[in-house]
Amino acid sequence: MTHGLTHLLGIAPLSAAEITMILDLADSYVDLNRSPVKRSEALAGRTQINMFFENSTRTLVSFEVAGKRLGADVINMAMQTSSIKKGETLVDTALTLNAMHPDLLVVRHPHSGAVDLLAQKVNCAVLNAGDGRHEHPTQALLDALTIRRTKKRISGLTVAICGDIAHSRVARSNLILLKKMGNDVRLVGPPTLIPPGLDAEIHHDMATGLKGADVVMMLRLQKERMDGGFIPSEREYYYRFGLDAAKLANAKPDAIVMHPAPMNRGVEIDGDVADDLTRSVIQEQVEMGVAVRMAAMDLLMQGRADTRGVMV
Ligand code: NCD
Repeated sequence: MTHGLTHLLGIAPLSAAEITMILDLADSYVDLNRSPVKRSEALAGRTQINMFFENSTRTLVSFEVAGKRLGADVINMAMQTSSIKKGETLVDTALTLNAMHPDLLVVRHPHSGAVDLLAQKVNCAVLNAGDGRHEHPTQALLDALTIRRTKKRISGLTVAICGDIAHSRVARSNLILLKKMGNDVRLVGPPTLIPPGLDAEIHHDMATGLKGADVVMMLRLQKERMDGGFIPSEREYYYRFGLDAAKLANAKPDAIVMHPAPMNRGVEIDGDVADDLTRSVIQEQVEMGVAVRMAAMDLLMQGRADTRGVMV
């Protein structure tokens, strides 16, 4: 398989064909992950370092599981106890790691653009596991895989992305991917949480925003990125924008409910809706995350296969 992937920094640089290629390969890894022996040798001999400068449960574990199932040597750097705490810069830390010849660096960072900067300084493949409010490409890919497997297509759908759009890299990456693949995307939320200039239909009311939607994607209120009063109160927010059965009734009867998690039950989503397995695909999203990350890392290493041992 030939492709131009050297890093995975965002959805924006990917073509629709590259997105499809990743999803197709991920489908085969879903099968592997459901089999008793979850083992491939695609990354045997490769070294993967996970550098997470922000909290994570799903994404970090998922990248670790993905690397191990592909046979890579996986290192999770504990950033809280690293020399960053002694004043070392991000770039110096990256150059130090680079000298140890890793093949893959998986990076999550609170600053938008930090992962791109790092990719310019090292020889190995860099995967963005979320940078500030900018991009979270593997999340959008796993969401796309979940939608494609449930709806049997990933184009011509109406997708409502709801909640804290302003602070969400998940919303940005999903918006870019879903538009590239030919879907209608609506952004639904209070005016304070929807930045101007996004290429989507904007709604400030859940009833109209969800009308006829095939997919309802909820987002967490990212309080750690807020520096002021964006909502009157969580109670008021839940009343107007929290997804409960009554609001969901505006979407198509077979609409699916998604959430990248972590969820705040009773803030952006009602617990009963989140747990309703006839509608909610939140656990499938987690499962697809491992497969998508396996596919992305496999493809990045295939792109560098001829340089095994000799870094490009
Ligand atoms: C998201 C993130 O970190 O951007 N979580 C995730 O990766 N599953 C969304 C969030 O934190 O709300």
